[in-house]
Amino acid sequence: SAVSERPLEEHADMVSSLPCHTITGVSSLKLCCYQGFWIPESWAAATAAMQRHFEPRLDDVIVSSLPKCGTTWLVALTFATMVRRVYPPGAADHPLRRLNPHQCLPFMEGLFATRRQGKLEGLPSPRLMNTHMPLQMIPHAIAAPGGGRGCRVIYICREPKDMAVSTWHYFRRAFPELAFSDVVDLLCDGTMLCGPFWDHILGYWRASAASPGSVLFLRYEQLLLDPADGVRRLARFLGLPFSADEETDGIVRGIVELCSLRTLSAMEPNRTGYVVPRLKLPRQALFRKGMAGDWKNHMTPEMACRMDSIVADRFHTTGLTF
Ligand code: A3P
Repeated sequence: SAVSERPLEEHADMVSSLPCHTITGVSSLKLCCYQGFWIPESWAAATAAMQRHFEPRLDDVIVSSLPKCGTTWLVALTFATMVRRVYPPGAADHPLRRLNPHQCLPFMEGLFATRRQGKLEGLPSPRLMNTHMPLQMIPHAIAAPGGGRGCRVIYICREPKDMAVSTWHYFRRAFPELAFSDVVDLLCDGTMLCGPFWDHILGYWRASAASPGSVLFLRYEQLLLDPADGVRRLARFLGLPFSADEETDGIVRGIVELCSLRTLSAMEPNRTGYVVPRLKLPRQALFRKGMAGDWKNHMTPEMACRMDSIVADRFHTTGLTF
């Protein structure tokens, strides 16, 4: 239809009326408040188009996260788990040895923002894709018409103070003037990328409690402690549990090893090129320390206290603790 051929233009007026702000030192990244969340201006029309035109399939798998919470790792683990019958983790020609993990699957809002959403429709099932959108914006992704289960969503959540540190390290690769205290302020105000972070996390947390077959809620810190357990959980969630033979053959261990920070960060496709060419963010910046508690090396006690009290305030009735 004429509408779906012009999915971005039909939202131009709406986008121009949104409240916006620019992060100090990051002038090329303008954020707009769309339906209660601060997203890049270039994603606003894309998100509206996605809300209208994305057609979930029952066997779709969506990896979702706030930026800097372990997206790349979860993408790699999920991809390696789903393709393991065709590409066992030890295969010399494994896509993860040739490509950056983000090149192994489509980024949903990125496709809609660049008018390539047709690519999603053309993908064979089961599709694997990722998004940074809050679930509140794409509720139809997990509920099929008639009330049944829609896509399967795997969400990764990270300790917010570590997310703050990781966010700053990442963006300062392209924007050296970005101040850490500004990142903390923006996160606390809820106006950082994809924020408020508490609403983003809670949307997925509540959906995973209400529909555990639709949303798997993973924690970055738990994955660090026992990645093999995380891989088994996600395989079961996808309806692709590891067989006894696969366990004996060390497939789980192989996936964990292939997707480890050490292995991935040493690979050629992850040492060169850009994640976002326009912003000159190098792929190398996706792999840093990969630890829990790095906030202790960066935050003043006041900053940590401020973030902790926001977290306590927003989460105390939810059953989610950090
Ligand atoms: P740090 O900056 O704290 O080191 P995202 O992929 O969402 O952008 O998240 C990036 C964070 O995940 C970075 O955290 C990065 O080091 C970490 N990370 C990337 N690959 C990882 C892996 N294979 N295992 C564990 N952590 C990883």
